[in-house]
Amino acid sequence: MNQTKLKKLLDFVVQITAKVGDYIYQTANRKKYIFYKSEVDLVTQFDTRSQRMIVDVLRKKFPNFGILSEEDMSYNTDSSMKWIVDPLDGTTNFAHDLPIWAISIALEINEKIVLGVVYDPTRKEMFSTIRNCGSYLNNKKIRVSKTKKLSQSLLVTGFPYDIRKSRNNNINHFSNFAVRAQAVRRLGSAALDLCYTACGRFDGYWELKLSPWDQAAGSLILKEASGKITDFKGKEFNIYGNEVLGTNGLIHCQMMRVLKLAY
Ligand code: IPD
Ligand code: CA
Ligand code: CA
Repeated sequence: MNQTKLKKLLDFVVQITAKVGDYIYQTANRKKYIFYKSEVDLVTQFDTRSQRMIVDVLRKKFPNFGILSEEDMSYNTDSSMKWIVDPLDGTTNFAHDLPIWAISIALEINEKIVLGVVYDPTRKEMFSTIRNCGSYLNNKKIRVSKTKKLSQSLLVTGFPYDIRKSRNNNINHFSNFAVRAQAVRRLGSAALDLCYTACGRFDGYWELKLSPWDQAAGSLILKEASGKITDFKGKEFNIYGNEVLGTNGLIHCQMMRVLKLAY
């Protein structure tokens, strides 16, 4: 698909994401009904509402594209062209009225992410990208930070939903980084973690056991902002894989060395 076509698709996706995000934001003070997918993995009626609004529009406008979406509305996922949708990333925050959550939509063509949008309605921040065309925050080009030393870096991470049951729960890496970096944060939205690294608010991000919808759009936004993204060992990043290490490039090897300590 050529860039003019992708640009048109991007404009369309930006529009829907803004519309749905603003609607969810404006109605978020209504009572929230919380359902448990597991002991700590929540879903609210807002996640499913957001998903329905997005999936209905995408299916109508692009009947030949597949859709991979978090809350069981996937469709034709074997298609070589598919939307990857997280209708509400940061559900635990949202359920507690902590205003750190976003909507994430990406387009995958022939196993490559070619377009990504992450929208934070609370701050009206729209992160967007097209492959090979750079990344933007509200139409302004963004790029990663210039911090060179891990000891001066602000990092971010998250913990998997099986934290209570699995020993591979990131607590070992967290404590290793906590004593080596300037500080480590945990925001609760992987999509925003990647975008904040892309625009230089964070210098590096790592996490494990994410799903493709958490990282599809954000990973391209980070790459296109001149960031580096791999697995923990420096191998090519894959949205269907188990590990993500996303940095400004300058501290990537230093972070890999720390991740090795707990292998
Ligand atoms: C979650 C968030 C969180 C990450 C979890 C994800 P959800 O997504 O991105 O930061 O640590 O692993 O599942 O459930 O809020 O869409
Ligand atoms: Ca998510
Ligand atoms: Ca979600």
